[in-house]
Formats: sequence, structure tokens, C-alpha cells
Amino acid sequence: MAGSKHISRRDFITMVTAGVGAVITAAVGLPAIAYLIEPALQSGSSKDAWVPLGKLDSFEVGKPALATFTRSKVNGWEKSVNSYGAFVLRKSETEVVVLSNVCTHLSCRVNWESDKKQYVCPCHDAHFNIDGKVVSGPPPRPLDVYQTKVDNGILSIHFVEG
Ligand code: FES
Repeated sequence: MAGSKHISRRDFITMVTAGVGAVITAAVGLPAIAYLIEPALQSGSSKDAWVPLGKLDSFEVGKPALATFTRSKVNGWEKSVNSYGAFVLRKSETEVVVLSNVCTHLSCRVNWESDKKQYVCPCHDAHFNIDGKVVSGPPPRPLDVYQTKVDNGILSIHFVEG
């Protein structure tokens, strides 16, 4: 027939094979690619959360106590676990203050020295009073204060990952 195009059986089989191959490749390959790149597209764990520190009653009134906790962070395929500390100070039966143990100068960890009644930074000998205010040394500001809440007797802090 003039003007009509005939394809050979061989060309037809080649085209069908190529089409089926493309469909199978897409069916297997796209989920595999999605699986491989999906972690890189995740935003990771939430940067802020309420972190429980323990029963409020377990902290002695008038004496700062170090509470520690860990937070895990997912960044693509990498998961890291970081340790943090906070000083819990019950000022009375009903009033509680929680201070970061990170020095506001260059981020060393401060320690409570009960004989001096001060937090002391070992790096550059900074001193903070029991409320976290700078007494001496290079820190530009007081220790950071966490927002707190008590639910069913459990003290929690609002932690924002920096
Ligand atoms: S890091 Fe604490 S005084 Fe420098």
C-alpha cells in the first residue's frame, strides 16, 4: 500500500521489549532512588522540645543540682547524640529555676562549687552567682535560663538546640 508504513516483526519486538524494559526499570529504579535520597531530604529531629529532667521533689530546695540529658539529631544519613546539662535550683517548694551549664563566654561547662556558692567556669575562671549572674570573669551575660513546666510532678525544660 502506498503511503502506509509497515514495521517488521523484528522492529515490533524490539520496541515492545524496550518499552517493557523501561517500565520495569522505572518500577524498580524510582523507589530505589527515592530510598537513597530520602534521608538527605529529611529536616532531622525537631530543634526544640520539652525535655523531662525528673521528679521535681527529687531536687533539694536551695541547692543547685546538675541534671543531664541527651538529644539525638539526624542530619541526612548521619545521626549524632549529644549530651547536655542543666542546673536545677529549687528556690522554694513551688519555685524552680533551671540554668544552662554552658558558660556564656566560650561555651565551657560550668561547675557548682558549694563552698563558694558560685558556678565556676574552669576555662577562664569565670564566676556566676547562684542565680547565674556574672560575678567575675569575661562572660558577657548571665547563664541562660530554661523555660520550665511541671506536669504530674515531673520537671521539664524547653530545650532549643543551637
Ligand atoms: S569559657 Fe567560661 S570563662 Fe571562658
